[in-house]
Amino acid sequence: MCGIIGYVGQQAAGPILLEGLQRLQYRGYDSSGIAVLDHDGALAVLKRAGQGALADAFPSAESIAAGRVGIGHTRWATHGGVTDRNAHPHSSTAGDVVVVHNGIVENYRALRDQLIEDGAEFVSETDTEVIPQLIAHHLRQGSDFPTALRATMATIEGGNSVVALHASDPQRLYAARKGNAGGIVIGFGEGEMFLASDMPALIPHTNRVRYLANGETARLSSAAVEIWDSDGNAAPTEPESIPLDPVAVAKGPYKHFMLKEIWEQPRALSDTIRGRARVDPGQVVLEDVPLSDDDLRRLRRVLIIGMGTSMHAGMLGRAYIERLGGLPADFDNSSEFRYREPLLGPETLVVSISQSGETIDTLGAMHHVKEAWNAPQITVCNVPGAATTRITDGSAIYLRCGPEIGVASTKTFTASMAALYLLACRIGVARGHLQPADLDDALGTLLAVPSLVDRMLQQSDRYEEIASQLPEASNLLYLGRGLHYPIAMEGALKCKEISYIHAEGYPAGEMKHGPIALIDRHTPTIAIALRDALYGKMCSNIQQVKARDGVVVAIGTEGDEELAAQVDHFIPVPATGELVAPFATAVPAQLLAYYLATLRGADVDQPRNLAKTVTVE
Ligand code: AGP
Repeated sequence: MCGIIGYVGQQAAGPILLEGLQRLQYRGYDSSGIAVLDHDGALAVLKRAGQGALADAFPSAESIAAGRVGIGHTRWATHGGVTDRNAHPHSSTAGDVVVVHNGIVENYRALRDQLIEDGAEFVSETDTEVIPQLIAHHLRQGSDFPTALRATMATIEGGNSVVALHASDPQRLYAARKGNAGGIVIGFGEGEMFLASDMPALIPHTNRVRYLANGETARLSSAAVEIWDSDGNAAPTEPESIPLDPVAVAKGPYKHFMLKEIWEQPRALSDTIRGRARVDPGQVVLEDVPLSDDDLRRLRRVLIIGMGTSMHAGMLGRAYIERLGGLPADFDNSSEFRYREPLLGPETLVVSISQSGETIDTLGAMHHVKEAWNAPQITVCNVPGAATTRITDGSAIYLRCGPEIGVASTKTFTASMAALYLLACRIGVARGHLQPADLDDALGTLLAVPSLVDRMLQQSDRYEEIASQLPEASNLLYLGRGLHYPIAMEGALKCKEISYIHAEGYPAGEMKHGPIALIDRHTPTIAIALRDALYGKMCSNIQQVKARDGVVVAIGTEGDEELAAQVDHFIPVPATGELVAPFATAVPAQLLAYYLATLRGADVDQPRNLAKTVTVE
């Protein structure tokens, strides 16, 4: 989950590291730290617990000024509390080996005991500290640094990425990756090189990158990069060029990245759909999905996996694949799925969804599918070349949303829904479930989604006003049925993660089986009740809440005066195709959560205890 940055070149490393860490704070921000080396081998470490504390201490840290080589880290605590001591970088007992780390050293207790027996002194409670100690141990045995680092990576268990400095080698920087935890990307500059846990940190510097593969170690100087595989054989170092728009990562006029990303949805959805949905005659083009019509006809089932918001998109994907694809479909939470024996086979298509493409639970589930079942896989992902796309050998539907910085996912939620809708159409056509006219209709409706979402955004002031009129609540319920049940789940997740109000999303039919006991005038309910096949049942559920003094915000069909008169607040949704209506109802679900959070003064982009990308189990 943590953010890592490294620099070697002619410029002062400190400010570059600090700026990189600021860009990476969405990965973790419990504490942060940097270590720099000057050309004489003098090492300086500065680390602080607390958000912003490093930046405050930095100007007076003169020892940092001379370093032209350095590493930095922003932490999401796993082992050991949020303290200065537990902040990275961590050092060997002699202080000459310094590392930053992402992942969990699963066997650290045994290693620590062994190292203490050998004379090492530990100062933190972290698992990380065994890494510099182990490297130092191997150096003392006579290994050179790359060999010592490789031996260390072979000894530690779990998925781990490490970036290191050695005081006796003051013009170089080292990195290593093992397993699926996080990633390391090398950035190639002119007379300077960079390392980062992911791309946003490199955006101001370079778009020429090389991702470190599982098992590789690297050595960087200002002029050259060397890479070795896990056996110590030289590996190719050629960088690839990644297109990046630096403006896309700036907040622009928005107060928060989350708000910017919510407003970006019409553009993001257009980018996801563009060139893939063609009408008259209808055609779906999924350029990176190599499955032929015959492959799709052989399928008997689709299983969708993901975590959090991505799983909620997968819930809708299930409905799309059933309705448009004509195939049985299901969804599962990756972290549960990976430890089951799900009895898949070559006739089940597994579709994983991961904005980052780095979520450890989803990667684990995908490996499980590949190794145990060899079922065909596609991934829905926002980051070109991410780990998920490597597991599927490139079989992917890229969201093309641009970087999502807010910890709370928004634009990638609706874009994932659009990607799954396209996939469902593709399956439906191949299997003869959708006739040409049906396909034309389905795609025409999808092409209108960006403007539908835009219309919902234009009511933003109304959502803010409603949020301000809700009672000071410590509990909230989101209710929906059918296609809007996943939106209820997603609305509740947004609310929990950014406003810290306890919120639950339920299928409305479940209310009477327990949750209705929570209803009183202090527990508002957000109910999605469009004029669709389930409208009558949703209205009954709303009545049941009203009968118990509950405050109701209804998201209903424009012009539904009858419903508007029964509830406390009414949010109109333009009449639209049933299958795309969730794109519309997602917007007030997101913005109500956003305004509830800002009204409480919460830090929307960096909510407590969370990180954007979850790379530990
Ligand atoms: C949602 O707002 C959260 N950020 C979280 O639930 C997220 O969707 C989940 O961690 C999955 O991330 P991924 O899409 O990058 O795999």
